[in-house]
Amino acid sequence: MTFSISFSKTPKAKADTIVIGIYEDSALSNAAKTLNKKNKNCIDNCLKSHANFKGKQGQTLSIAHCQHNYSHIILLGLGKKDSLDTIKCESLGGKLYGALKSAGAQNVNIMTDGIKGKKGVSVSDALAHIAFGTRLKSYTFDKYKEKKAKKDQPVVLKSITVVTTDNTPAKKAFTTLDAVGQGVFLARDLVNEPPNTLHPESYAKLIQKELKPLGVEVEVLNETQMKKLGFGALLSVGQGSIRESRTVIMRWNGTGKGKISKSSKNPIAFVGKGVTFDTGGISLKPGAGMDMMKMDMGGSAAVVGVMKALAKRKAKANVIGIVGLVENMPSDRAYRPGDIIESHSGKTIEILNTDAEGRLVLADCLTYIQETYKPETIIDLATLTGAIMVALGNEYCGAFANDTKLWDQLESASLKTGEKFWRMPLDQSYRDEMVSDVADLKNMGGSRYGGACSAAGFLEHFVDKPTKWAHIDIAGTAWWNSDSDTTTKGGTGFPVRTLNDFVAKNYEK
Ligand code: BES
Ligand code: ZN
Ligand code: ZN
Repeated sequence: MTFSISFSKTPKAKADTIVIGIYEDSALSNAAKTLNKKNKNCIDNCLKSHANFKGKQGQTLSIAHCQHNYSHIILLGLGKKDSLDTIKCESLGGKLYGALKSAGAQNVNIMTDGIKGKKGVSVSDALAHIAFGTRLKSYTFDKYKEKKAKKDQPVVLKSITVVTTDNTPAKKAFTTLDAVGQGVFLARDLVNEPPNTLHPESYAKLIQKELKPLGVEVEVLNETQMKKLGFGALLSVGQGSIRESRTVIMRWNGTGKGKISKSSKNPIAFVGKGVTFDTGGISLKPGAGMDMMKMDMGGSAAVVGVMKALAKRKAKANVIGIVGLVENMPSDRAYRPGDIIESHSGKTIEILNTDAEGRLVLADCLTYIQETYKPETIIDLATLTGAIMVALGNEYCGAFANDTKLWDQLESASLKTGEKFWRMPLDQSYRDEMVSDVADLKNMGGSRYGGACSAAGFLEHFVDKPTKWAHIDIAGTAWWNSDSDTTTKGGTGFPVRTLNDFVAKNYEK
């Protein structure tokens, strides 16, 4: 059960917890003063006895019971005046959620009168993003936990009321964010789901169940259909598994004008790597930490998540998503190092390492989407290489773009959401590195170095000019081992929000 978030000019009468915003080293706001007066100077007294609370951004101080009518008054540090941007507001919301949880708050009024963000951040934006931060941070993945463990937490947050005279625009801004949040949560759920329950067939069914009711057209290609089409690269990866592979195409016709059709030119397509488990295949990965490879469908989860976000907020754009779903297993039927396979494009590929499988899955999806829907722009998302983690760690994803304007658009969306993108190079030398002696291409470069770049170079062989294309390697960002202000450890839902903003900004009028 999730909690409700509403925006109102007046506080909810039956609230048990009240949240008061306090700027760093500043006098109390009017709301705080009134509350203080009405409740025997409890805020002043508490501030005196908690000298470490200075109102720094994200600091919280909980005043329990004594001397006031609420079970808790929570002071929320807003930091220096005029320093809040929307990303910081979300962090604030996330931290506030933590304080609400430990206080056992059920019905909350947030009173931050006079909150002022940086230039360009309106009161309503600031409040909507604080509220969104509480929502983002509330995510849990506990469906496999014993029911009793859940019952041990008898008090759950029921409602947050944000009190503001700007309630109408704040609510409007929040409603859009919350719709996108549902796409983020779906992506997190998909990544967190274990690989015994989330395999290509069940995944394809789940996509249908999630997206069809929202008006997204979903088409599933099974193995027979993919064999007919000649998806030799994708099918090779999946052939070692008892689970059948799937490709799922999702279409969101949001413009109300031209529908997405196979004969028309279309604006934008998202392509996702959906390896539901990557053992490495015959080039088996080491055992330690292999469980992590359930997240190797993180690219596809981002695609499914953004399709949900777009549909939920009824985006006025036509967008296509395609995900290649396979399980990479070793077996007597598995593809081998040394195999030469034929991709859907007709290009042959020499397999040098069965663990470099993501690029094979993407290759067939890239070709199929280009020939079928002629998108002007393609963005693929994949947990493609360990090398991108060596280069950038877990904070930034690596973005390879063959068009500077497209990169600019992605960067500006990413700066807005706080999901960090770093541009990486495409180069003829990386493309050349992927040419095989015995086939058109090989699936692994000649050098140990620059593995994320040679992987991108491989993909570039499957993108026809003049398609604008970006490849986003999210191996380091799809999963985090620790909590952040707005994420719970595990699947992050990265970069659903950025893709959504990218569509909103560049494809919706
Ligand atoms: N799924 C992995 C990449 C990965 C690593 C994702 C760590 C998330 C965390 C990918 O399929 C892979 O194994 N890539 C190889 C490529 C190599 C064999 C050329 C790699 O990065 O080592
Ligand atoms: Zn692999
Ligand atoms: Zn992989």
